[in-house]
Amino acid sequence: MSLSPLSAAPCRLQVALGSRSYPIHIGPGLLGDPQWLAPHLAGRQVMVVTNETVAPRYLARLKAGLADDLEVHELVLPDGEATKTLESVERIWDALLEAGFNRRCTLIALGGGVIGDMVGFAAACYQRGVAFIQVPTTLLAQVDSSVGGKTGVNHPLGKNMIGAFWQPRAVLIDTDTLTTLPPRELSAGLAEVIKYGLIRDAAFLGWLETAMPALRALDAAALTQAIERSCAIKAEIVAADETEQGVRALLNLGHTFGHAIEAHQGYGAWLHGEAVGAGMLMAAELSARLGWLTPDDVTRVRASLEAAGLPQAAPRAMSAADFLARMRLDKKNVDSRLRLVLLRGLGDACVHDATPPETLEALLDDFPRQP
Ligand code: NAD
Ligand code: GLY
Repeated sequence: MSLSPLSAAPCRLQVALGSRSYPIHIGPGLLGDPQWLAPHLAGRQVMVVTNETVAPRYLARLKAGLADDLEVHELVLPDGEATKTLESVERIWDALLEAGFNRRCTLIALGGGVIGDMVGFAAACYQRGVAFIQVPTTLLAQVDSSVGGKTGVNHPLGKNMIGAFWQPRAVLIDTDTLTTLPPRELSAGLAEVIKYGLIRDAAFLGWLETAMPALRALDAAALTQAIERSCAIKAEIVAADETEQGVRALLNLGHTFGHAIEAHQGYGAWLHGEAVGAGMLMAAELSARLGWLTPDDVTRVRASLEAAGLPQAAPRAMSAADFLARMRLDKKNVDSRLRLVLLRGLGDACVHDATPPETLEALLDDFPRQP
């Protein structure tokens, strides 16, 4: 399947963070065109970090967009969420040191959220911080993880528990890369797209309900529209609250439940977007139990997930106690108080720290499990 060509010029959004502001370029055919990377390189030394799945597809194309007078190195890591570890980040630092990289270097993350999160963290720590550019190649990374500067790795006891806020110099979204993305990964990315509608934009949610078949069929115009709206919402929220002291927490709708699923199942068994999708339905059901959403609202959330090809049930062998044990480690919690992102209405999210424990436990007991 291929994307139909778009005639429009690439869209340019901005993450407004004062002197650390950066552009998000969105469009087809951006990889390989020097005008998008060159302005954001800190010096002559460039390390492209990617993985063994993405490298054969896109590494050569990206390198074609880097000028001949640059000192370009590449590092190809293994693939998978299970490799999102400090050991992998150490491999990046080893490669930088072995190649004699100084502080005026640039790391380029070419791949999905796993590569982006690890490369960003490597850049945040290398010689106390060097430049990096995000070149996301999954829908999930294009609409979420490449924007906003959350970087890091997993710990066996919790997802994304080790990390840093470190903003990229630019985000380069070449929508053509989605043509090779497996359908399951596309669906995982759609979970985060649905999330933006649920937390911030009921009209966008309505548009998604109509556009979902086109999105799953890789319609270029529909995908570009979904990516642009998602990135615009994320950029606005990050600009307002870079380090998640307030409104940015809303971007974690479904994540407290979802991270528990990912960690319990073993990283990689459930895709991040799949776990977030099921988690958003759990959050919607809980919101309904608190009297905030109607049964019809919950039905719409479930239908959106189904249309996107996402699970609407939790893992079979995961008990309420399993959920609670993992959820107590969530980064949003304050003074061991569980803080959940819930919905006051569709398009209107809030952080809530006063859910009665018995209401939460009943939801965790009753929520459907996979057969
Ligand atoms: P991923 O990086 O594992 O990529 C998914 C799969 O697609 C991998 O096998 C990858 O090699 C492959 N792939 C990538 N691009 C491809 C392409 N164009 N064609 C074919 N295959 C391709 O997973 P992801 O869903 O991109 O990201 C999930 C990760 O992102 C999780 O670790 C999650 O915690 C993190 N995340 C971070 C943030 C943040 O703000 N930093 C936000 C959301 C998610
Ligand atoms: N994905 C959540 C955030 O960036 O804050």
